[in-house]
Amino acid sequence: MAKKFPENLNYSGFDTPSRVEADVLDLEVTGEIPMEMNGTFFRVGPDPQFQPKINSPIFFNDDGMVGSFKFKDGQVDFRSRYAQTDRYRAEKEARRGLFGDYRNPYTDDPSVEGMIRGTANTAVIVHHGKLFALKEDSPALEMVPDTLETIGYSDFGGKFTSETFTAHPKIDPNNGELVAFGYSAKGVATLDTAYYVIDRNGQVVHEVWFDCPRAGFIHDFAVTENFVVFPLDNHTINTERLKAGKPAFVWQPELHQMFGVLPRRGEAKDIRWFTIPKKAFHGHTVNAWDDGTTIHYDTTLADDNVFAFFPEEGGNAPNVFDINNMVMRLTFDMSSDRTEPGQTVIAPVMAELPSIDPRYDTRPYTHAFLASIDPSKPYDFEKCGPPSPNNPFNSLMHLNVRTGEVKRWFAGPTCAVQEPVFVPKSDTAEEGEGYLVALVNRLPERLSDLVILDAQDIEAGPIATAHLPIRLRTGLHGCWMPSE
Ligand SMILES: [Fe+2]
Repeated sequence: MAKKFPENLNYSGFDTPSRVEADVLDLEVTGEIPMEMNGTFFRVGPDPQFQPKINSPIFFNDDGMVGSFKFKDGQVDFRSRYAQTDRYRAEKEARRGLFGDYRNPYTDDPSVEGMIRGTANTAVIVHHGKLFALKEDSPALEMVPDTLETIGYSDFGGKFTSETFTAHPKIDPNNGELVAFGYSAKGVATLDTAYYVIDRNGQVVHEVWFDCPRAGFIHDFAVTENFVVFPLDNHTINTERLKAGKPAFVWQPELHQMFGVLPRRGEAKDIRWFTIPKKAFHGHTVNAWDDGTTIHYDTTLADDNVFAFFPEEGGNAPNVFDINNMVMRLTFDMSSDRTEPGQTVIAPVMAELPSIDPRYDTRPYTHAFLASIDPSKPYDFEKCGPPSPNNPFNSLMHLNVRTGEVKRWFAGPTCAVQEPVFVPKSDTAEEGEGYLVALVNRLPERLSDLVILDAQDIEAGPIATAHLPIRLRTGLHGCWMPSE
């Protein structure tokens, strides 16, 4: 019997499943790795262990493959290992795919009923010396930073009782707190939302449960010194859809965007819901801060449904390349009764996957770095085939959020870039003084490079490029862990 992955864009071309766990010491390098870069760049993305049980159009439904690039004394070592979730281990035991469609337990093999369905493929963070691989439909999976060995799902000392942990928690650099939440916290499509503050030692010190006004995506959120903001866009989910075998989420353009604002140490009764009476697809938080009464929340935002695989009830979805994207600032005035936040466009550009200097998280800041599409640049269709909506980015971008000034580095007509991650030059460096690291997909060669750029001069191009002898599929999010 032939064994093949489904013939669709998620499993072909550059995103053909790799399924390779690797150790490569002292990568080949063009240029010079800065000697002060001592630490590890972690990243994660989906890479299926087995052919999927069903042919799903969802790119992010496969097993998490965690990669680490360890920088020391001008050398870079690479390692990759699967995040060994309960799902990964069950399928390895059975030697076949057992789990069905994204967020839909009704499509699973009966042998895995009740098992945690997460794939730990969305983001990686380091907190209190531990590495966590994250997927928003399941708990945080702990791994060993150095070896990438999986330890198992964490409940943070028994006090994290939500069934889910966001892929986008924030670390407050001022006190080391890990601020997190879980939506669908009592099971898929439930309204229950749980909010947690975890101290620098990994102990839960604050917990709030509240109901969202509707069940939908809360992929990212905003954290400031005194507040947290939970955004709801136009996607909703319900169990009837799941039982009927429909896509988990449906786009409802008639709904309004909603934002739940909670004091960082508040209670459920303190939550205030704000509304913007128009549709939007919320991307990722760039950063947020408050001045005591006003919250400034910078985010990427699209004016229509970016996830065509979660269309309207009748199947309608726009072409993803026709959607207007922007970096927005939303302003919440907590001293008035206004229920609509202010909205200002910082930059009307197609840019996503933001990274900032982590020392300025939750506080006023200037510099943001993103992956972007520069439509003025060429694309070699002949060598690369049609551009993949899984990774449409051709440039890295430096955005000054105070002035709106944009600088770019174009990766070339046969390349796509993945999420950039900012690395401070030193503890005492000015904000934004440091390096950007990002994976570059070399499409015709089907190989990956890791580029290192001077964050204040990205237009000059990489100061060093580490060449992998293998291909890393399009991934999602990463982070930097300094060696100390
Ligand atoms: Fe994300």
